[in-house]
Amino acid sequence: MSDPLGRLSPVVRLAPAKLNLTLAVIGRRPDGYHALHSVMVRLGLADRLSVAPSALDRDSLRVVGRDAGPIADNLVLRSIAGARAAARPRWPSAPSEPPFLAARLEKHIPVAAGLAGGSSDAAAALDAALEAWGAELPPGERARVAASLGSDVPFFLAGAPALVEGRGETVTPLAPITGAPLGVLVVTPAIALATPAVFAAYGAGSGPVAGGAARSASEHLAAEMRAGIASRALLDRAAILASANDLLPASLAVLPELVPFRRSLTRLLGRPIGLSGSGPTCWALYASLDEAASAGREIEEALAGGRLVAPGAGAPFVHATTVEGGDPS
Ligand code: C5P
Repeated sequence: MSDPLGRLSPVVRLAPAKLNLTLAVIGRRPDGYHALHSVMVRLGLADRLSVAPSALDRDSLRVVGRDAGPIADNLVLRSIAGARAAARPRWPSAPSEPPFLAARLEKHIPVAAGLAGGSSDAAAALDAALEAWGAELPPGERARVAASLGSDVPFFLAGAPALVEGRGETVTPLAPITGAPLGVLVVTPAIALATPAVFAAYGAGSGPVAGGAARSASEHLAAEMRAGIASRALLDRAAILASANDLLPASLAVLPELVPFRRSLTRLLGRPIGLSGSGPTCWALYASLDEAASAGREIEEALAGGRLVAPGAGAPFVHATTVEGGDPS
């Protein structure tokens, strides 16, 4: 295969899932989007993207692992196209343009799950494409391309954890979480929940009055995390965090089977169960990865024994991982 850049090794990026520790809807914007106040962290659970110059006359994408839906809809290809459009004016050898790329995505994060896997893939693709071309974009331009791809994409360009505001484009890094990494168990029913449907249900009245409890919990957490918080203190706040999601009632309205499912998880695990983003991923925090893994085994046994019934056509995704504390440098 010819290599227009003379590079032999592909550019590889991990694309982590995110978890909303809080998610407050603080208003409706003139552009139709909702203004948010959300503290977001990255998880150890990640997709893996590699990108290399291609001999083809177009960008291409191959997905292995979990089902990621139709290739044509995949944000990775849209992200590479967006990166090329942004890099083109600065490309040294105009009128030629940044070469086509072959991308390979190892999919581990469930899609349409509230974990922003597709958005993370898009952010990774933007970064990897620019790296493969040896192209630089000013940070503002990079952020603009990211925001044009989706509301959750800008978060992944910043150091995590972060406070996310606006429709998602205003990202303020928070201090790294200190202490031993928290474990987190994620349980994702095998049923996609479309974010627009959840926001529509929110707008139709399946949500709390803006400016309620989730907002004050989110503002309080952001202030604490700006100053620096220990993982143990986050764990102590699990009950507050699990209820600090303004989209929860709307998600439950769109997918009513989530109501008994969350109740069963709470009973089986004996701890607060949060919902990430617009769902349907449920989460529980633990002091360590080991504890989260053992809770995961309990859930698998309960599913196998019929003591837990999950919504959706197949078995839920049950996965123990860590909350990434962020880079202390
Ligand atoms: O930006 P993105 O394409 O990820 O958003 C998907 C949908 O979610 C939007 O079309 C909109 O309906 C809703 N949304 C919103 N407010 C946000 C983010 C998303 O209303 N802050």
